[in-house]
Amino acid sequence: MKRLVITNANLYTPRGCQALKGADMGNLLHIPQAAIVVEDGVIVWVGSDSEMPMLDDSADEEIYMDALGRAVIPGFVDSHTHLVFGGYRPEEFGWRLKGDTYMSIMERGGGIQSTVNATRSMTEDEMVEKAEWFIEEMSRMGVTTVEAKSGYGLDTDTELRMLRAIRRLAVDPDRSVDVAATFLGAHAVPEEYKGRTAEYVSLIIDEMLPKAKGLAEFCDIFTEKNVFELDDSRRLLAAAKEMGFKLKMHADEIVPLGGAELAVELGAVSADHLLHVSDEGIRRLAKGSTVATLLPLTAFALKEPFAPARKMIDAGCAVALATDLNPGSCFSGSIPLTIALACIYMGMSVEETLTALTLNGAAAIGRADKIGSIEPGKQADILILHFDSIDSLPYYVGMNTVDCVIARGEVDSVIND
Ligand code: NIG
Ligand code: FE
Repeated sequence: MKRLVITNANLYTPRGCQALKGADMGNLLHIPQAAIVVEDGVIVWVGSDSEMPMLDDSADEEIYMDALGRAVIPGFVDSHTHLVFGGYRPEEFGWRLKGDTYMSIMERGGGIQSTVNATRSMTEDEMVEKAEWFIEEMSRMGVTTVEAKSGYGLDTDTELRMLRAIRRLAVDPDRSVDVAATFLGAHAVPEEYKGRTAEYVSLIIDEMLPKAKGLAEFCDIFTEKNVFELDDSRRLLAAAKEMGFKLKMHADEIVPLGGAELAVELGAVSADHLLHVSDEGIRRLAKGSTVATLLPLTAFALKEPFAPARKMIDAGCAVALATDLNPGSCFSGSIPLTIALACIYMGMSVEETLTALTLNGAAAIGRADKIGSIEPGKQADILILHFDSIDSLPYYVGMNTVDCVIARGEVDSVIND
């Protein structure tokens, strides 16, 4: 057995095996002089240094780490990304800076369709190689689990190729970042189905979903005016649920369509974006078990108002934060900037932000029983920061304050002193 003992940690962690809602999001466990014992990648003991039990001599290998009094937190869970894609779209970014809008570019055949054209010509190897670079970058910022979506194929072959690439990223034993797979065949209506949305939804249900089963755990959809409206979304998600997929939704991103309400009605694990969520949507999310995943980098990059995080938490919702890394609306996987935007512009406290990026992110991909907090029984995904307080997370604006990443109990990078 392999043992890792971390001492002298200023530990902050949310607690539990499910998403925290409302005021509970700010209620972290804080142990100023903490020790953490990890055996074979799993946390077996957490408490005050002074109360650490005598450890037996059953370990074949034992590593002791002094955290030097620094802040120690759970690994970040980025529960919404599109990190497999072809090409880039800097020209659209330029057009938007001059006043163009995301939806008008999409309606002209650019946007998602432009990435689809580039992705269809990629091999599985090329997809894996390109995505690896983003995963490495995210790992340096403390991400220990990332969700990745298909959705740039919009035909059966390419969607499945994307999912196989994501599976290769997920099963690579050398990788320190765990990967959760989502099928997003309903990301847009492809050019060849223009004006025939219902037929495309039927193709997804009859052909793509059965083949995606076993490759993807979640089924997601871009529910939006002039993309997949509520009826199409309900039909697709109900079929996916029937086939055993867990559900996710891009909901109420551009206009308030009632996506949040539908997500709760169908028992989705998460409803994401929610920039324009209605008051009724907030009430339903607060009552239900769907995690509200907010993506501030997208709002920032699109110059849209941020999602009403404060209002949602005060109403009792479970809020997660994620990056939405993608080549169009949000070409950023920056966890530090996500933290800064949440704290500075969305009225979230540092504690709530931490919960949103760890335990609630884990719940948004159905893994809160395994990851997202530093507690006995959980996988040992642990970060040591450069500073002794979690207040440094938003204070050092947009800068990476993670010094050491421990993923599945393996020390990935070493603390600077
Ligand atoms: O989450 N809104 C839909 N999907 C992505 C954007 C994808 C793209 O523009 O390529 C999003 O913002
Ligand atoms: Fe997205």
